[in-house]
Amino acid sequence: MEISERAKNISPSLTLAITAKAKAMKAQGLDVVSFGAGEPDFNTPDYIIEAAKYALDKGMTKYTPVPGTVELRRAIADKLERDIGVKYAPEQIVVSTGGKQTLRNACEAIINPGDEVLLPAPYWLTYPELIRMSGGKVVVMETTDKSHLKITPEQLENAITPKTKALIFTNPSNPTGMVYTPEEIAALAKVVEAHGIYVISDEIYEKLVYGVPFSSMASFGNMKDLTIICSGMSKTYSMTGWRVGYSAAPLNVAKAMSSIQSHTTSNTNSIAQYASYVALTDDRGEEFLKNMVKVFDARRRLIVSLVRSAPLLSCVEPMGAFYVMVNVSGTFGKKCDGEVINNSSDFCAKLLEKSLVAAVDGAAFGAPEYVRLSYACSEDDIKKGLERVAAFTASLE
Ligand SMILES: Cc1ncc(COP(=O)(O)O)c(C=O)c1O
Repeated sequence: MEISERAKNISPSLTLAITAKAKAMKAQGLDVVSFGAGEPDFNTPDYIIEAAKYALDKGMTKYTPVPGTVELRRAIADKLERDIGVKYAPEQIVVSTGGKQTLRNACEAIINPGDEVLLPAPYWLTYPELIRMSGGKVVVMETTDKSHLKITPEQLENAITPKTKALIFTNPSNPTGMVYTPEEIAALAKVVEAHGIYVISDEIYEKLVYGVPFSSMASFGNMKDLTIICSGMSKTYSMTGWRVGYSAAPLNVAKAMSSIQSHTTSNTNSIAQYASYVALTDDRGEEFLKNMVKVFDARRRLIVSLVRSAPLLSCVEPMGAFYVMVNVSGTFGKKCDGEVINNSSDFCAKLLEKSLVAAVDGAAFGAPEYVRLSYACSEDDIKKGLERVAAFTASLE
């Protein structure tokens, strides 16, 4: 018997695959430096772990309301008002099993078969699959180093058709690390409002910005009525394994997302929900974040300077998240051991094979001139890995 057409068209997550491959090589004893990580290399803060233990001891082990406990949804609404100045009722918040489920719920709630969904490239590789799973059509909007890997209002205006349902907007961006300025977002919001399309605003890296402000799409004009904020605990509190994401959306969309979730996973893990409530309401969160941002910023500066001093490579300076998008097109046409490097896939394969450095192929993000390096690793690994990368590009003929 055959699997469904829908399932046949879904590709597995390449970023997870690269990390798994690098881990397997390390397990064989090879000294691989991996720049594939998609999660902070920090432990979840102790006060959050203690909260989870408390939840267990107090018997918080039963079903909760599908969209999350009222106390957690209230804490999220308070946080949003504090951080971005937008008021939400707890009924507009849906807590899900990770940011991924949040995004999946959002797509299912608004996309009809044949709807076009705009996706700036380089994009996080899960989005096209989510759009397609919901029956939508992916419309890619290309960006370049010259445009700082950001879309412009003119580009957005030109991409919108009567079939456009939504824009997926990731700020700060995975994979590029770019952060849109408030002025840039205001200009995009104007176009969105004029056409009345939705914005799925992925803000999961909101707290990881380095000397620049974060602004939410929902804060501009009447954008609250058109924006579905998708975020979560994974990156901010280094809670990737806990699987807690959340959305803030117009009431009808929030209700639809909750209904969809009620027939798929029901509520998010009750213990993780309580721990998330404490994470968001205890002052120790700020302290933890301040330190994490400082450490990431130092690594960011280091990796950018090392990439820029490596032969044939360049990058636009990332100001958020923990990734740098390296333009490797300068190596195309060069030979490694007699074999020509034609694209980012060739580059990554040769780099891993020859220099034991794992990078993520930009082709996965709709950007075949780039590779993504994550700096969620130690400064020692950054130095060792980039030394190897520079030696590799210098050896190309
Ligand atoms: C841009 C972006 N959105 C959403 C997610 C999903 O996060 P979670 O692990 O909470 O599902 C990720 C995780 O890598 C991400 O990079």
